[in-house]
Amino acid sequence: MTHPAPTAPASPAPPPEAVGPLMRGLSVLRQLAAGAGRRPVGDLVRTTGLARSTVDRVLSTLARLGYVRIEGRDAVPAPRLLELGNAYLAASELPDRLGPLADRLADELDESVSLAVPDGDGVRFVHQATRRRAMSLAFRIGDLLPAERGAPGALFADAWTAADWRRWRSRRAADPTDAGFPAVPPRSADDDTAGAAAGFEARVAAARTAGWSLDDQLIEPGLVAVAVPVRDAAGRTVCALSVVSHTSRLSAAELPDAVLPRLRETVAAMTDALAAPRGGPPAPASDTPPGHPPHATWMRASKQELGPEFVESLARGLLTLTAFGTGRAELPLSAVAEATGLARATARRALITLAHLGYLTTDGKLFRLTPKVLELGFAHLSGLTLPAIAQPHLAALVERVHDSASMAVLSGDEIQYVARVPTVRIMSVNITLGTRFPAYPTSMGRVLLAGLPPAERSGRLARTALTRLTRHTVTDPERLGAILEQVRADGYALVDEELEEGLRSLAVPVHDRTGRVVSAVNVSTHAGRCTPEEARATILPALRDAATAIEADLRVAGRYARIAAL
Ligand code: PHB
Repeated sequence: MTHPAPTAPASPAPPPEAVGPLMRGLSVLRQLAAGAGRRPVGDLVRTTGLARSTVDRVLSTLARLGYVRIEGRDAVPAPRLLELGNAYLAASELPDRLGPLADRLADELDESVSLAVPDGDGVRFVHQATRRRAMSLAFRIGDLLPAERGAPGALFADAWTAADWRRWRSRRAADPTDAGFPAVPPRSADDDTAGAAAGFEARVAAARTAGWSLDDQLIEPGLVAVAVPVRDAAGRTVCALSVVSHTSRLSAAELPDAVLPRLRETVAAMTDALAAPRGGPPAPASDTPPGHPPHATWMRASKQELGPEFVESLARGLLTLTAFGTGRAELPLSAVAEATGLARATARRALITLAHLGYLTTDGKLFRLTPKVLELGFAHLSGLTLPAIAQPHLAALVERVHDSASMAVLSGDEIQYVARVPTVRIMSVNITLGTRFPAYPTSMGRVLLAGLPPAERSGRLARTALTRLTRHTVTDPERLGAILEQVRADGYALVDEELEEGLRSLAVPVHDRTGRVVSAVNVSTHAGRCTPEEARATILPALRDAATAIEADLRVAGRYARIAAL
């Protein structure tokens, strides 16, 4: 038995109704999230203190939910896990209502702008409009700062009770390097500038008087920020709006004058935006993407299939988090039970457990998600790029078809490879990440060109020199235009030996959540191996499944984060 440091905040004992498997599952998820990606299962066993068999059952349940992938001895958080954080962000409405105003401010100032909310004695980012240049670290949605390091914390701490201050002091004493905040560089134990107690209290008082708060390199040298509180119509501080710069552009002394007038205007517009009635159609019960398992039948089938390796009470508990969403910020037990299809008693115990762990608050009647939900992998996963999201799906595709699979994006008149899972090499050139080919004689290029608005597509074709690369290359612009039209209608492109003799390639588009074609995935094979019809019959369905799976991940991941194309 290990003894906590004498100053460590004691965690209260769980209430008698608490669901043990849900608590254990969340402790595995938290450890997995803390690792920022892949974690050996053995590590999770060690850091959670749980039995190996327990961790295995938790992981197979999470894998079934699509929240993790098991790769050999490792567990890897998967993009679908973002649906938990999405539920909080949607319910809070902060990114949806205020994000566009923050983005506009970032454009106008050409500096990074962020929105952050209080989370215990920390500050958690809920929106980032990043214009970060080199030289300073950039935070992601879901990242947590200690309140005393950064501008927003001094605004939030104004509302702290004596008990909150006590908790803050004991956390500082128990964690002198800020190890509990992996998003920030470690604080050196004797570092006074990074918010020694008196300094922070003074900054809180100064921020109260001034109505704004300054971060003069509290996180790292060079990084400076100003934050102002965003209040709702009732005058409650709901979040902080920050402008972040670097001392190479603006000193901490110059920053307030440079940005406060525009910050204040934006904050006034934000207060209005918070009060505006919500437009649009009624929100769905959750932001769960289509294709997600319907709850009750899916639970039963999973249990039947996996037996003890499917922990129903964990799956049900996590499911209750997704009952929340846009227009569903505060729910009574009955609404959670209805949205999830769970029995009231089951939903109640899950909610009590989640409230005990700090993922929900309740007045006894209504439940509300807290930003702590974002600690479940959101920061890491929301930073994934499109190729990183695609990679496991390409690997699964290659398993199925036994030919190389790739992803490419359009770059000028060329395609550029951004992900690739090779089998045997069948091309004369070795394709690696970054390899470029002209778009017009390649399957991925045709899918990408076909996805462009018609005017842009024909403009590009008119600009491109169409060179004969093999006996089969189509170089007649009119014929190529007709082929692209057909590709658009069919939803795939098959190209036979137009880039290189002997090479056949099939590609389909990948759409983002707005329906835009953002990339293409392909499978390339020997033209001699089968007829084009056979390739269509065998490869195309697998390719489409891969694209559909990537699109499903993109829908969840792109709800609040901007997914980089490479
Ligand atoms: C940020 O958004 O990256 C940020 C905000 C406030 C700070 C520092 C950084 O004090």
